[in-house]
Amino acid sequence: MRRTALVTLKHLALTLVFAPALVLAGCDGGGDTGGGDCANGDAPSFTSIDWSSCTHCHSSSAADRQAAPVDLNYDDYNSASAKGTRTAERVMDGTMPPTTSDGPALSAEAEAQIIDWSQCGTPQ
Ligand code: HEC
Repeated sequence: MRRTALVTLKHLALTLVFAPALVLAGCDGGGDTGGGDCANGDAPSFTSIDWSSCTHCHSSSAADRQAAPVDLNYDDYNSASAKGTRTAERVMDGTMPPTTSDGPALSAEAEAQIIDWSQCGTPQ
């Protein structure tokens, strides 16, 4: 709940920053998607995201996968992008990383980036 609120706040802040610019540019901003960030060139690339809170388990070189599915690795673009939508869903509903994880915590910045990455078409 709190994480979702933070992301919503970020999007609200971005909207407040960019909406006047869109008006000035003669664009009404009446977009067809909620992905204003993507249109503004704000889509984070796969390689720019800190995936450490995920690769603790979801990595081809993880010391202990802790039952993470073998076909999902966040050190592998093809594997991660194939599950792009699911990735954002699990981060948004707060079930990934699991609360039992003894790996690095997911920062608010990485969380927002992962969601944007998924919603902006998983850029490499
Ligand atoms: C402590 C180990 C661990 C960490 C850390 C972890 N996961 Fe997982 N993940 C699992 C396990 C175990 C499953 C399978 C059980 C389940 O779906 O809950 C799973 C399943 C998933 C699935 C579902 C795959 C499918 O085929 O539907 C996604 C998506 C996912 N994780 C994303 C992430 C992301 C993104 C992160 C980092 C923000 C992350 N996980 C961090 C252990 C982990």
